[in-house]
Amino acid sequence: MKYQTTEQAEWRHWVTPKDAKEKAVHRWYLFPHSFTDNLVHALIDEWGLNGQDRILDPFVGAGTTLLAAKEMGVSSNGYDLSPLAILASNTKTATFSRKRLKTAWRTLENTLVHNGTTPMSRAYPELVHKALPEGRLEALDTVATSIENLKCSSSERDFFRLALISIIPRFSHAVATGGWLRWLNQGDGAENVTIFLKKQVEMMLSDICDISPQVNRYWKARVADARVMPASDEKYSAVITSPPYPNRHDYTRIFGVELMFAFLDWEANRALRYQTFHSHPEARPNRPAAERYKSPKALSDSIRDLRDKRMQHMLEGYFLDMYLCLCEVARVCRKGAKAAFVVGNAQYDGKAILVDEFTAEIGEQAGLICEEIRVVRRRGNSAQQMGKYGRVASRESVVMFEKP
Ligand SMILES: C[S@@+](CC[C@H](N)C(=O)[O-])C[C@H]1O[C@@H](n2cnc3c(N)ncnc32)[C@H](O)[C@@H]1O
Repeated sequence: MKYQTTEQAEWRHWVTPKDAKEKAVHRWYLFPHSFTDNLVHALIDEWGLNGQDRILDPFVGAGTTLLAAKEMGVSSNGYDLSPLAILASNTKTATFSRKRLKTAWRTLENTLVHNGTTPMSRAYPELVHKALPEGRLEALDTVATSIENLKCSSSERDFFRLALISIIPRFSHAVATGGWLRWLNQGDGAENVTIFLKKQVEMMLSDICDISPQVNRYWKARVADARVMPASDEKYSAVITSPPYPNRHDYTRIFGVELMFAFLDWEANRALRYQTFHSHPEARPNRPAAERYKSPKALSDSIRDLRDKRMQHMLEGYFLDMYLCLCEVARVCRKGAKAAFVVGNAQYDGKAILVDEFTAEIGEQAGLICEEIRVVRRRGNSAQQMGKYGRVASRESVVMFEKP
């Protein structure tokens, strides 16, 4: 292989969200395919980052990098196209007073007991009605309205909004299994909305410690495209991130009910689907020109004969997106900055798509140096691919770069 490759199997549990389900604050909201705080802590230690540094995560998801950096006293910013990701990241990294939140929660609980169900606050897309039938949507909407009317700060309001959004899957007929949405006749009834909200809020409150805010340290996520970052040049000393894997999973479908319940109408959700990274075939993003980009030769060889031309188009787009993002990383990083990209290889028609090696090569085109590829895990191929081509494992790796 062209790039130095090392096995780092002791990190294998750190590239899935499993362990984070038990961790204070991290567990408030998780995205599938996220890594854990251990990975971020290990990299901060390895790179010797401290309070003078600032870390970037251009695909912030549920904010693992930001929260883990906060745990180590290092400032961090994140970007994501999904408003749900921004709400989760900013709420998980906000500094709260438990006492104030408890008072607000008592007020909210009282309004829920007395209000019953109120007329719907807005028209929801058909899919949301279908996912939350038999009064469930009405019950969730009533809570959402009470939260909007609560007298508290905007980050306190977001605390309750996140709690409410996080319980939606318990009631939904649209079930995210792995990266896909399946329709199942399941879930709790409308009468249990307040019970589950109470459980969730109490769990979240139990995770809050009243510590004084860290002076001159900042954690903030905002809506932005990783291909066109709103950051000044040479601002960051490190990047820790995981772009969507090119596995056809589409976050606007997996989180479609939550996004259209709390943030977007049908058209806006579709527009978000089109604009996301080209990791699923429905993406058709507007992206800046990339005249200097050269698609890796091994990539063209791997995808040339794919039977499904949409997959060929998707994979070409995916690595073009990766190039644009890596150019932005090179621009916003200081000299000597380090970057870690967690990526997963894929397989189509029995052909391995070596995302780690292509990312390394493309990163070098973008002006970074690939220090090494750390292989942390090997995953089986999909049941469909396995039936046809046998069991072939795909690497999951951390591609390590330096800005020269
Ligand atoms: C693998 S997830 C990141 C998970 C994250 N590491 C965590 O800990 O939760 C990838 C994220 O990329 C976001 N995304 C997709 N296309 C994007 C783009 N063009 N710019 C920024 N974020 C994008 C998705 O919304 C999703 O939140």
